[in-house]
Formats: sequence, C-alpha cells, structure tokens
Amino acid sequence: MNEVTMEKIVSLAKRRGFIYPGSEIYGGLSGFWDYGPLGVELKNNIKNLWWRMFVQNRDDMYGVDTAIIMSSEAWKASGHVEGFQDPLVECKKCRHRFRADQVEGKCPECGGQFGEVKQFNMMFKTHIGATDDAGAVSYLRPETAGGIFVNFKNIIDSFHPKLPFGIAQIGKAFRNEIAPRDFLFRVREMEQMEVEYFVQPGEWEKGFEAWRENVLKFLTAIGIMRDSVHELEVGDGDRAHYSKRTIDFEFDFPFGRKELCGLAYRGDFDLQAHTKASGVELSVIVDDATGEKTVPHVIEPSFGVDRTILALLASAYTEDDSGEETRVYLKFNSAVAPIKAAVFPLLKNKPELVAKARGIYTELKKAVPQIMWDDNGNIGKRYRRQDEIGTPVCITIDFQTLEDDTVTVRNRDTGAQERVSTSALLQRVTADV
Ligand code: GAP
Repeated sequence: MNEVTMEKIVSLAKRRGFIYPGSEIYGGLSGFWDYGPLGVELKNNIKNLWWRMFVQNRDDMYGVDTAIIMSSEAWKASGHVEGFQDPLVECKKCRHRFRADQVEGKCPECGGQFGEVKQFNMMFKTHIGATDDAGAVSYLRPETAGGIFVNFKNIIDSFHPKLPFGIAQIGKAFRNEIAPRDFLFRVREMEQMEVEYFVQPGEWEKGFEAWRENVLKFLTAIGIMRDSVHELEVGDGDRAHYSKRTIDFEFDFPFGRKELCGLAYRGDFDLQAHTKASGVELSVIVDDATGEKTVPHVIEPSFGVDRTILALLASAYTEDDSGEETRVYLKFNSAVAPIKAAVFPLLKNKPELVAKARGIYTELKKAVPQIMWDDNGNIGKRYRRQDEIGTPVCITIDFQTLEDDTVTVRNRDTGAQERVSTSALLQRVTADV
C-alpha cells in the first residue's frame, strides 16, 4: 500500500477542482480555503445527508438557520468574550506568534526567546453600523450553537415541543486561530453541523449514549471506516468552559490521530446564562396539569464540515499499482460522490453515437442531476479522470448500443465492466447512488 500523504490530497483537491487556497492570486490567505465545483457538490452531499438523518428523518428535531452576527451580550453571557481563548507566545527576536501549547523552548523560526504567555481571544471582532464606539462591537460567531440557544424560546413558542427534543443548525463559524494548519483541519472560516438536544436533567446520560451511537452512525453513512475512528474521553482540565463531559471522536489523519468531531454534555450552562443575562426565562413546561417548568440540560454533537471533508478525502484516496501506471482513485461511496455517473460516447466524431449518448445522458440527468458528460480524449483517459474525482460508475455508449440498446457500465474500484440495458440503467445508477 502506498502512503496517503497530505501533499497528495492537497494536490489532487486543487488539480481536480475540489478545494483551492483562499485568495490564491494574491498569494493566499492562511486559514481560508475556497471550494470549487466538485468540492461544493461533495460538501452539499455531506450536509444533506446530515440534515436528512438528524432533522428530516426524525420527529423530535427543529432546524434553524440563524444570523452569524448576534448581540455581543449573547457572547458575553455564553462565556466566549471572557473564556474563548488560546495561550499565545511571541518570539522576542523575529516577532512570530505561536500557540504556547504547540511550541517548546525556543522559537522554531529563528531560535529566539519567547516572551510571556498571553491569552488571545479567538473571536473575530467587528463593528455594526457606521460607528466605532464600543457599544457597536460584535463578533462573527465562533460556534453555530449560539444562534440555537438564543432561539430556544422561539421554538418553544412556535412548536410547543415536549422533552426530549433538539434544534439543529448547519452554518459558518469563524475562529481567529493563532496557527491554522494541515489544510482543512484547522481553519479560520469553517462550517459546523450542530445539534443542541434538550433533555430532562436526570436523563442526560441516556441522551448522551444515544448521540454517541448517532455520531458513529453518521460517520459510517458517509463512508468513514469505523476502525479509523477512536473515542477519547476528554479530561477535567481539557474540556471547553461549558462542558461537564466531552468525548472527542478522533480520526487517523495522515498527520496523526486528531479530533474529527465532538460530543459534549453542556448541562444547563447556556440556558441559565442567557436567562440571567437577557432576563428572558428559558425553560419548558414538563407537567401540563401543574404547569411545572424545568430548565433542560443539553447534549451537543458537533461536526466540522471541513474537517469531515478532509477525513473523507484521506479515507477515500487510493493508489492502485497493479497496471503499468499508478491509478489514483477516490473511493467515495455513492452517497457522497460529487458525480454519481459519467456518460461517454465511445467516439466523438460519430454523430449517431453522440446523439444516442446525449439522449441517455439527458434522461439520466433528469432523475439524477449529478451526472457528467465527457467526450474528451480516449476512454482510458476519461476513466482516469473520473477515478480521480471518485465517480462510482462510467457508462459508455458504443456501436453495439445502436443495435441492442445496451451500454457498458464500468466500476471504479474493480475496473470490471458489464453490459446493461438502457432500460435498466437508471436503476443501476441509482442503486449505487
Ligand atoms: N459547539 C461546540 C464546538 O464548537 P468545538 O470542539 O470547538 O466545539 C466542534 O468544535 C467541531 O468543529 C470540531 O470537532 C471540529 O470538527 C470543528 N472545528 C473546530 N475548530 C475548527 C477549526 N479551526 N478548523 C476546522 N474545524 C474546526
């Protein structure tokens, strides 16, 4: 087995239109990445699967899409203004800055001495409106959870849910990381997929166990192998300020075993804090007869979309040395593959073949939008191109198709080819999808 390196993944992602460095023509901007045409399809597939599994397929979940910028009072109440910080050190000689927990002794750039460790708040600050005064300061949200907690009462008032129930959100979050690194692993602008699941205080352990299973179920559904995910119980001193229990789900990235996503028990920290700061009671009726209320406790599964994409790319990247040249392919399952099938006319200068292939392509595309047309270069090259972007099947229309309405369907992983009738083609493609 050839080694899967970050260089190979980053290079393929750029070359084939998945992910580009942010602001590249200006020399790049550290911690920011842009998704290209295939990257955005991959990302949407992951987000749609998550939304389907955790919102649409359940009766106890409410989806929201809240503003990235909220009242700064909310971030004071949640403890982020005070506590969302990383330890920072600056080299006295070259002035480079590092996260204090990632360097030892001397400056790795110039060997200089470090100054004192300072706390650096990772929220991006901004001003609202045409004023510089301190009252207009707010922040780009560092987690999507914030927007969920401030809408808790709205969901209660609109839908009157009974415990347990959850509120889910997918959206951008921003962290001014001191040291962004490892491609999509640690970025400054990211997307998160988060659930705040509200339970009776005495039932949090049951909820926590159920969500632990759900996290693994989702990772398996998108094609991350169970044996490359490892659970880490986060110790007392290492948890976020709001958490009473956290499990990190770690993944074997090419640069080592690191956190992919997390599950936290936030207790009633957030609802109590927002109640106190806003003066608005955030509770739920637990007994209709008596009107008894409780402040629910919260279980929070939190997934980073970008980190998930990196884990998927690393899981899927495969090199096959059995032929004359090394064949590179992305072993995506059909659910996440950006393109579900590619359609080729065997030759592009034979009008009747092209017309037949176009007809098949158009029909398939009506049912499955993520279908690609390719008539460039020889069939071998077209297969290589589709392999590199992870397309599960390629469909070739040849002279036999004109006679008996069958096509060749070629499997990405095995290279095996079979003849399939055009009437069964959609079923064949969607069976894999
Ligand atoms: N609401 C809880 C929360 O935000 P977190 O552990 O700080 O918890 C959750 O972040 C997930 O978001 C992480 O497991 C990771 O997948 C992703 N994430 C956090 N910071 C990130 C960063 N700088 N770059 C990429 N992904 C990040």
